[in-house]
Amino acid sequence: MTELTLSPAAKPLSGRITVPADKSITHRALMLAPLVHGESRIHNYLDSETTRATLNCMRALGADIQEREPGTLVVRGRGLHSLQEPRDVLYCLGSGTTTRLMAGLCAGQYFLSVLDGTPALKRRPMGRIVEPLKQMGAVILARDNDRFLPLVLRGGNLRGIEYALPVASAQVKSAILIAGLFADSPTTISEPAPTRDHTERMFRAMGVEIIPTSDHTVRLVPPAQLEPQSADLTIPADLSSAAFFIVATLLVQNSRLELLNVGLNPGRTGLLDALARMGASIQIENPRDENDEPIGDLAVRSAALRGTEISGAEIPRMIDEFPILAVAATQAEGETRVRDAQELRIKESDRVATVTGELRKMGAQIEEHEDGFTVHGPTRLQGARVFAHNDHRLAMALAVAALIAEGETIIEGWESVADSFPNFDRLLLSASA
Ligand code: S3P
Repeated sequence: MTELTLSPAAKPLSGRITVPADKSITHRALMLAPLVHGESRIHNYLDSETTRATLNCMRALGADIQEREPGTLVVRGRGLHSLQEPRDVLYCLGSGTTTRLMAGLCAGQYFLSVLDGTPALKRRPMGRIVEPLKQMGAVILARDNDRFLPLVLRGGNLRGIEYALPVASAQVKSAILIAGLFADSPTTISEPAPTRDHTERMFRAMGVEIIPTSDHTVRLVPPAQLEPQSADLTIPADLSSAAFFIVATLLVQNSRLELLNVGLNPGRTGLLDALARMGASIQIENPRDENDEPIGDLAVRSAALRGTEISGAEIPRMIDEFPILAVAATQAEGETRVRDAQELRIKESDRVATVTGELRKMGAQIEEHEDGFTVHGPTRLQGARVFAHNDHRLAMALAVAALIAEGETIIEGWESVADSFPNFDRLLLSASA
């Protein structure tokens, strides 16, 4: 286990930075580009532990994906029905996105696949994908009443389904949509609240008929083949990675930072809305579209924050941002309440328990609830020895807390940042020291 020792920020954050590429879009590009007939290039992909897990699984399924120059992958796609039976277990490491989307992909194949992962991933719920994929006709076995990894799948012969998602989850939605590519009839999915729609956008770019039918419902018509993308795919910077720098800039006095080419998918921008209510000044400059995804540059400057309430449909729109939101809330005047966020308990760690537990070690006043937490602010944080619980987003949130704490902070388990943001500490130090 590695430790990172951090001192308070020596100076305001300043400059222009580009954070690493979007993790969610990288996973999807790696899975879908090999199904296109023809060569595609994925520019600025995220090279991290979790996306490498997807890359390795795709290669094990016979996909031809090469890195010709740093940051660009060349994929020689062989069509929708070109994947082959893997010789070994498809090892998804600790990546929930890899597992759930890969399960959808394997459900569409006539061969046998086995998905497995780390002990932490084995504790995360898989019944939510097993159930709809079985309804579509896949044969699936999983441990403990079909609820946990490993998953054994024999797919093919799928039929389209009409499915109402019991939880707002883009991973589950995407697993069903990807399986739906291989079905013999249309699939309709409705979600209880909108989630990120990267899969739908990439499908559209590949010529798949995917139509919103009513509020939060889409209908997918299975294509004969995917069309080669008109242009090469360039992946924007990840808003969930930018989030740490946004909050660090707000909290460290006299800071001004510009974050370039950030993905602004409407299913992901909940943090920006919540921070705006809290009094943050974040300007979106140069808004544009690239590969059917909205992107922009963000100009952030320090601000005095006040508490807010986050609940209901806003939760899925910022589902990965609660560790860093909690840090922002420790500096906000008044109470910040997060409710309806039970899903946080089944992320890379139980984020309700780990975020409240670790921030308390630094002196935060934060209460845990079954479905969220309440923070009372502002509090002067104290440097402490804290633990990342194998959770990259908790590790990075604690690093931002360290910047505004009094004294030194030691973060144990720092290596988990490699899941989404391998050079985080270097970039943080370059912007703040
Ligand atoms: C993701 C969806 C979210 C998110 C995860 C990535 C995706 O998970 O937390 O980091 O790429 O679809 P859920 O769908 O389980 O909420």
